[in-house]
Formats: sequence, structure tokens, C-alpha cells
Amino acid sequence: MQINLSGKTVLITGAAGGIGRACAQTLAEAGAFVVAVDLNQTGAQETIDGIGSGLALGCDLSKPDAVTALAQRVIAESGGVDSLVNCAGLIAYRKGINAVSVDEWDLLLNVNLRGTFLVCQAFMDGMKARGGGSIVTFSSLAARVGGIEVGIHYAASKAALIGFTRTLAKEGGPHGITVNAVAPGVILTEPVKRQVAGHEEAYTATIPLRRLGLPADVANVVLFLASPLSSYITGTVLDINGGMYMG
Ligand SMILES: NC(=O)c1ccc[n+]([C@@H]2O[C@H](COP(=O)([O-])OP(=O)(O)OC[C@H]3O[C@@H](n4cnc5c(N)ncnc54)[C@H](O)[C@@H]3O)[C@@H](O)[C@H]2O)c1
Repeated sequence: MQINLSGKTVLITGAAGGIGRACAQTLAEAGAFVVAVDLNQTGAQETIDGIGSGLALGCDLSKPDAVTALAQRVIAESGGVDSLVNCAGLIAYRKGINAVSVDEWDLLLNVNLRGTFLVCQAFMDGMKARGGGSIVTFSSLAARVGGIEVGIHYAASKAALIGFTRTLAKEGGPHGITVNAVAPGVILTEPVKRQVAGHEEAYTATIPLRRLGLPADVANVVLFLASPLSSYITGTVLDINGGMYMG
């Protein structure tokens, strides 16, 4: 069966980044109209230019007013969304609780957790009114096993998203809205490449599939979660880690 998202509008946050851009490309290839959102508006526009069609919008998800304005514009221009892919996030590498300042804690939680909350809140009523849809949130291997190199603030934000996802799944279910989280392992995007440089083999040795992940590995799962093929899956966490953690 071919996945066909023609006629569907998908909003992807973090669409200028490694995984977000791969999601945008993959869902667009399946026929979706992609709204690419990122703090980096130029990068979001590059994602849309690479696809050839769609809408690129700049937005700082840590700012509630900016998310409200984003939703108003998207609803005005595209009539609403069928799928939300909440990929935007800050990855922070720190060791030890004392290495994290209160300001850093607040920033990570505001972008990763509150940003996802604000986006879902802004579009939830519209999705209910459309009679269904799908929401994907971005957790992490760090939420499953504790951070390996990432900071405690990052792991906390990604673990909180699992409770968020399950609670929203209970609200969305009666309206035909599925809500699921993905929990990527070590995926080779720019911030991760920089961090693992010099010790990639140490990771590879711990991964049953013996390779680090690629953005496409995540995008393919997001495609599945945004498609009717996953219509009876909600409130779950899909681990995409080559077997580093088997839930
Ligand atoms: N790469 C990995 O190994 C990995 C592992 C687990 C989870 N994740 C999660 O996957 C998602 C994507 O990660 P990535 O590796 O592609 O990172 P990335 O840095 O390449 O992309 C993240 C994107 O989020 C955007 N962003 C940051 N702050 C924002 C804000 N305030 N408002 C709007 N956009 C903002 C950035 O501009 C960037 O384009 C993140 O949520 C990350 O936590 C990644």
C-alpha cells in the first residue's frame, strides 16, 4: 500500500533542522502540503525551496504570542492542519546537575516542552472541528534511559513530553486525533555530529544494528504516524534507536 497524503496539510516545527527537514521532505513526497516552521526562517524557507512548494514561517516557539500569531496565519492561509509534527527542540550537552543554570533550564523547558504545548493547544480545537488528525511529539532516548551526554534539563523536558503525549491522546481519541511520541536515539544531525565526533565507534558498538541513526530513519516513522496506516495507534512512544533501548 502506498502512503498518500494528498490534500493533507502538515505543520512541522523545527523544519530547518536535520530531522525536521527530513520529515518535511518525506511527507511532501507522500503528497502533503507542508507548513515548515522554525526560529530559523531562512532555513525553513530553504526546506520549502528544496521541496518546491509549501509555506515557510518563522516563529519562536518559546513565545506564546508568537505561537498564537502563527496559528492564526496558518488557519487563515491553509484552513487548518491535519497533522502536527512537533520536532523543534534544543539539544543541550552538559554533564552534572551543577552544570545547568536556572536560565538554561528555563530555556530548554520553554522550547522543548512548553513550545510543544503551545503549538498543540493552538491547533487542537481546529483539528477536533475537522473531525480528526494526528500529532507527533519528539521525546528522546534520554527520556527512556537517562541522558548519556545530554543534560538533565534536556532529559527532563523529553520525559515530560511522554506524559503530555499520553494525556493529549486521551483527549484527542474521541475526536479521531491520534497523539504519539517518537523517541530517537543517536541521529546524525549537525548538533549530534559535532558532539559524537571522535567517539562514534563507542556508540556504534553499543547499538545492536551497529550504526548511528539518520534523519530519514525518523522521518519514515513520522510518515507512518501521520498516515492512516497508524490510525489505531495512540498514546504510544516509538523508539527509533537501532536497539539501544528496547521498551
Ligand atoms: N538528533 C538526535 O540524535 C535526536 C535524538 C533524540 C531526540 N531528538 C529531537 O529531535 C528534534 C530535532 O532534532 P535535530 O537533531 O534535528 O536538531 P536540529 O538542531 O538540527 O533541529 C532543531 C530545530 O529546532 C529549531 N528551534 C530551536 N529552538 C526553536 C524555537 N524557540 N522556536 C522554533 N524553532 C526552534 C532550530 O532552529 C532547529 O532548526 C529535537 O526535538 C530533538 O530534541 C534528536
